[in-house]
Amino acid sequence: MDSTDLAAFTQHFDPTDPVWNEAFDEAGRCLRETGPVSSSAHGGLHVFGAFEDIRRILSDPETFSNSRGLSIIPENQHVIRRPTDLDPPLQLAYRRLLDPYLSPRRIAGIEGQLRTTAQDLISGFAARGQCDAATEYSRPLPAAAFVQFLLNLRPDQVDEAQQVVNNAVFTTDPPARRAALGELAQWSARILEARRRQPRQDDLLDAVLHNPVDGAPLTEDEQVSILVPLATGGLETTASVISSSLLRLALNPALQTRLRDTGQLPPQAIEEFLRLGAPVIMSRTVMRDTEVAGHQLRAGERVVVLLPAGNRDPHEFSCPEDFDEHQTNRHLTFSHGPHRCLGSNLAKLGIRVALEVFLQQLPLFELAGPPRFRTSQSRSVDSLPLRFVAA
Ligand code: HEM
Repeated sequence: MDSTDLAAFTQHFDPTDPVWNEAFDEAGRCLRETGPVSSSAHGGLHVFGAFEDIRRILSDPETFSNSRGLSIIPENQHVIRRPTDLDPPLQLAYRRLLDPYLSPRRIAGIEGQLRTTAQDLISGFAARGQCDAATEYSRPLPAAAFVQFLLNLRPDQVDEAQQVVNNAVFTTDPPARRAALGELAQWSARILEARRRQPRQDDLLDAVLHNPVDGAPLTEDEQVSILVPLATGGLETTASVISSSLLRLALNPALQTRLRDTGQLPPQAIEEFLRLGAPVIMSRTVMRDTEVAGHQLRAGERVVVLLPAGNRDPHEFSCPEDFDEHQTNRHLTFSHGPHRCLGSNLAKLGIRVALEVFLQQLPLFELAGPPRFRTSQSRSVDSLPLRFVAA
């Protein structure tokens, strides 16, 4: 990437610019080092990449609100997502509804099924000596975790969910984006409607259908608005971290051997994969005039927090660019503050199972071609060709 392209991008940050996809890590570093930047893209944005600035913004929902959504690209007819687009205290009431179904104890119950699915996926390509890890492994595994094991839907419903969610996450052209989000809402409404006619299973879908929030039953629109962020959160982000971790391992045979020898991956290793593979950036709306790091912000303006850039801030991490499971790791991948990711237990289980089974069942692997990425508000690995090398 030409340094003038990168400098121009830094001054006019826009997540739909191809530079963001081509030079994601480098562009994030430039934005962090430049300090807070004001861009005219998408109606005006103030962009923050430093670890402490991001934590400060995310810790203060009264000044930096979610109430106008997290989308950097305006959606017009904005559909409220719950709890994502609410501020405390109502946001916390919605979290209380979902929390028990995403707790470590509940999530631990699906580990066996997830492991079997990972083994089945590997049996589909191991004998070929190569695979596209993004499409044949990293995507189907968290999709099965969410659709089959969390929502208790049928295996033949996984593909449709993946398709609908992908369109909603990666369509950037405003009219097409509106249509894609509409399709995701319709998919959610169909899933809920089908369950209404079935016996109760005491799972997350039943909780959304039957449990009150703040003492009041939910309307059908409110129920849909809960499922939409769960689906967008549940599928593509976890797939992205699994793929970026496999890519890191493919480029580092010594790390591969070291982690293969440990058997069960240490929790700090998962945290490092999460830190270095953070896929999400998002926005907040400024509610009152304020300043962050000497940068003036006015009520009504929007800020963007670059979680991946904050995760490599040398003021916070002793080895910011390297995989080092021994460093203190307060990464921002799941956000920070009241909206911190509700699905982090499920995400971590999916990543751990995916990497452990891959390392246990396959020999040393390396890149068989260039990986392909797609990036807007979330970075995804579209293709990751890997070749298995005979030991
Ligand atoms: C590696 C995978 C994942 C990443 C990187 C990720 C990232 C995030 C981030 C950055 C937020 C915070 C948004 C904010 O601060 O406003 C968030 C919130 C959320 N995530 Fe995740 N997520 C992941 C996996 C999941 C999974 C598997 C689920 C559920 C199935 C999930 C469900 C949610 C929900 C419901 C929220 C909204 C929480 C709230 O607003 O209070 N996420 N996630």
